Amino acid sequence: MSIEIKDIHKSFGEDHVLQGFSLYVREGETISIIGPSGAGKSVTLKTIIGLITPDSGEVWVDGKNVHTLLRPELYELRRQVGYVFQFAALFDSMSVGENVAMGLRRIKGMTEGDIQKRVSYCLHIVDLEGAEERRPAELSGGMRKRAGLARAIATQPKYLLYDEPTTGLDPVTTTTIDGLISRMSDELGVTGIVVTHDMVSAYEISDRIAMLHEGSIRFVGTPDDVRGTDDPVVRGFVEGRPELSRSVQV
Ligand SMILES: Nc1ncnc2c1ncn2[C@@H]1O[C@H](COP(=O)(O)OP(=O)(O)O)[C@@H](O)[C@H]1O
Ligand SMILES: [Mg+2]
Repeated sequence: MSIEIKDIHKSFGEDHVLQGFSLYVREGETISIIGPSGAGKSVTLKTIIGLITPDSGEVWVDGKNVHTLLRPELYELRRQVGYVFQFAALFDSMSVGENVAMGLRRIKGMTEGDIQKRVSYCLHIVDLEGAEERRPAELSGGMRKRAGLARAIATQPKYLLYDEPTTGLDPVTTTTIDGLISRMSDELGVTGIVVTHDMVSAYEISDRIAMLHEGSIRFVGTPDDVRGTDDPVVRGFVEGRPELSRSVQV
């Protein structure tokens, strides 16, 4: 029950964003993908769930070759893959409860009672108990992120993809979200990919960290491997000193 990304290339016009991106995500692990803004991290996540089609290469999720699936198979697979969008992406015209229920309404055989139970359970997990009737616009940034997480886990996915789950949050809220990501892994056994440029979070939540640099994975290893690496590109990013990598010949 792994995710395997094999030699993905993706260009937008002249912009060759992914240039041979490969990564194997093991069942049950939480892996962070780090890299500067514009490196292609969000493109990678969207490619994994089939929102973006690569120019070449393959993505295998749950034993299925994502970009060869027919629509119904793709929708079925997406139910296994929760996606926490960068800006929560809640629908402001709906209540929090309706946002969380969205994916559940597509599952045949779930009664209204089942749905409401599941919604309140998911809100409980993210510490938003009783927030069903609230409007997304009334929530703080951290609460919106948590509501987005509740929606992502509603269909009991085996995989969770998080796009910058802590960007723009204060340190206390960041710690809460990091704790939730760890719980998803420890208690629910979810396989997770977290896109972030927050190194404090990456160290905290990751089994492994992968660095995206110039379209491919430059480095992958445990947090200790990252701390110990001599790679100037990785160190430059991690220490917030991009000048370290400027002397590198590529
Ligand atoms: N749908 C799209 N159409 C055209 N260009 C895109 C599209 N999505 C992303 N890009 C470009 O791909 C590059 C990588 O974007 P993105 O994956 O969002 O970066 P980040 O690592 O910050 O998440 C950027 O230059 C962005 O402008
Ligand atoms: Mg992004």
